[in-house]
Amino acid sequence: MSDLVLHVTGARPNFPKAAPVVKALARHGLAQKIVHTGQHYDDNMSAVFFRDLELPYPDINLGIGSGSHAVQTAKMMTALEETFEQERPALVMVYGDVNSTVAAALVAAKLGVRFAHVEAGLRSFDWTMPEEINRVVTDRLSDLLFATSVDAVAHLAREGVDPDRIHFVGNPMIDTLLAHRHRFDGSRVVQEFGLDGAYGVVTLHRPGNVDEPGVLAELVAAVRGVADQVPLVLPVHPRGRARLEESGLFEHPNVHATDPLGYLEFLGLVAGSALVVTDSGGIQEETTVLGVPCFTLRPNTERPVTITDGTNMLVTPASVGGAVAASLATERGTTWPVPPLWDGSAGERIARIVAAELAG
Ligand code: UD1
Repeated sequence: MSDLVLHVTGARPNFPKAAPVVKALARHGLAQKIVHTGQHYDDNMSAVFFRDLELPYPDINLGIGSGSHAVQTAKMMTALEETFEQERPALVMVYGDVNSTVAAALVAAKLGVRFAHVEAGLRSFDWTMPEEINRVVTDRLSDLLFATSVDAVAHLAREGVDPDRIHFVGNPMIDTLLAHRHRFDGSRVVQEFGLDGAYGVVTLHRPGNVDEPGVLAELVAAVRGVADQVPLVLPVHPRGRARLEESGLFEHPNVHATDPLGYLEFLGLVAGSALVVTDSGGIQEETTVLGVPCFTLRPNTERPVTITDGTNMLVTPASVGGAVAASLATERGTTWPVPPLWDGSAGERIARIVAAELAG
């Protein structure tokens, strides 16, 4: 058995979560390699994050690509099994709730490789979300569970996870935000679309929203209503692009569609915005720390701390227009609450625990 830590990543939201952990493990002198499953492969969905975050390029790229859930997860599992057998890691680390995460969890558990989940314990209790299935399965199989919020710790305890294995460490994605904040720059997009006053940022990519024509039609009407109030920038995720184009949304004069943006550009745009309308998970957390009002177009969230201790609000297609109008009419405060331990040191806390675990 080596003393190698193998990080398994693959999809866009993994990279800002892994970056501070990789950097902190390096400071502790631990041997590590990054595996990229290839779940996301376009430059603007993957490589740009490695450049923006100064994250070492993956040591191993499995090149799996897109597919149905079963096809994609099975291909990842087959390739990861071979990788784990070759590398014989002392610990596999995974991030978040994407298919790359659960694929690595299943393979590590069956090979008896120690396994750590960063961002454990989040629950939407919505089994129609593929991410909820990935979260529950991954946590059930993990030896070390790193939680970003107090509610996540409570969920894990209620599910019977041994408290010694649960570590409340804060939020590594927020480490990344705080470390790179001085480099955020949305000016190219602001200039391109002539946004000289208040503007909003919209992201929509969740299957439950963009894959269902009826739901999407309602959402498009709702976003049009928001665009009647304030210009919107909409970086378009590849999932749903065709349907959104067909819907005519981009023909609204106040809707500015653009390709997916890199980390520094996207967060620069968000940081300078009046508000965000989204169905993403991570953006609820980023807006909370930036103090930007966030309207989440979903019936539930696995990140309730962004509502209780942040700027997030759940909205429906029927309510988003009114919520945005109220927000635009209210002056934004100069201070705002931030959830406990979202302080820039989560990566270091994780590294200390991992180092002790490997030494033990
Ligand atoms: C995945 C995650 C989701 C996360 C999102 C962030 C799962 C189950 N879902 O969803 O939790 O919020 O990433 O982006 O893991 N595609 C490209 N280029 C790429 C990648 C994807 O064109 O580089 C297209 C393909 O048509 C693909 C589709 O996007 O079929 C969906 O990609 P996939 O990785 O399956 O899921 P996401 O919707 O991106």
